[in-house]
Amino acid sequence: MELKIRLENENEYRTVEKLTREAFWNIHVPGCDEHFYLHNLRNSDAFIKELDFVALYENKIVGHIAYSKANIVNADNLHNVIIFGPISVLPEYQSKGVGSALIKHSLEVAKSLGYKAVLIYGDPRYYSKFGFRCAERYDIKTPDGKYCVPMMALELEKDALSGVNGRLIEGFEFTPDEREFEKFDNEFPPKEKGKTASQEEFKILSSLKY
Ligand SMILES: CC(C)(COP(=O)(O)OP(=O)(O)OC[C@H]1O[C@@H](n2cnc3c(N)ncnc32)[C@H](O)[C@@H]1OP(=O)(O)O)[C@@H](O)C(=O)NCCC(=O)NCCS
Repeated sequence: MELKIRLENENEYRTVEKLTREAFWNIHVPGCDEHFYLHNLRNSDAFIKELDFVALYENKIVGHIAYSKANIVNADNLHNVIIFGPISVLPEYQSKGVGSALIKHSLEVAKSLGYKAVLIYGDPRYYSKFGFRCAERYDIKTPDGKYCVPMMALELEKDALSGVNGRLIEGFEFTPDEREFEKFDNEFPPKEKGKTASQEEFKILSSLKY
């Protein structure tokens, strides 16, 4: 599958929000709010425009990845890191290498821009193949001070995370207003909410804190 990966243009924001909604619909919960997260993230100082990529197949946008700034904070120090997400691929183009291509490309660019480490919340079964390891290895915890199975870390520079420890604090905090969200979501085509097996898996995975 011949893909082109390039930076997203501002006039593509709505197309990409639609794509995000299609990708996440009923995956983690009935419906989804990742498109609203993305919409708000773009107005935040934490959003990294230089790492906002789309993947095109035959001139159609089929995938997207966004990054934001975050910090690992402890009593003595604050370390800058970056986070990616959401990452989305249109359902009909999934499992064809689009997600992998977006991750690999964006990680290379992030490294060339001087970013030292990437943290994510994701499924270890998918992200370990890109070199992500459990964040516990670096003594990095959630904001509430717990280790969490889906929190994973990747050093872009050797030993960038050695000796770094603390809580991961995202640069963009998402606390959606229910009414605002409903208004926003109504701008998209109607879709049926439903229960899926992936929602149960997600519930289990996100509860694996210790
Ligand atoms: C996750 C996602 C971005 C991956 O993109 P993709 O283009 O489908 O991925 P690739 O083609 O590069 O890799 C596909 C492989 O990863 C596996 N995979 C994808 N998501 C996975 C997950 N959450 N857990 C385990 N494996 C996963 C697929 O089963 C597939 O395996 P195969 O090659 O053995 O068939 C895409 O599937 C998607 O948009 N999913 C819905 C939204 C989502 O869950 N985003 C990530 C939230 S953390």
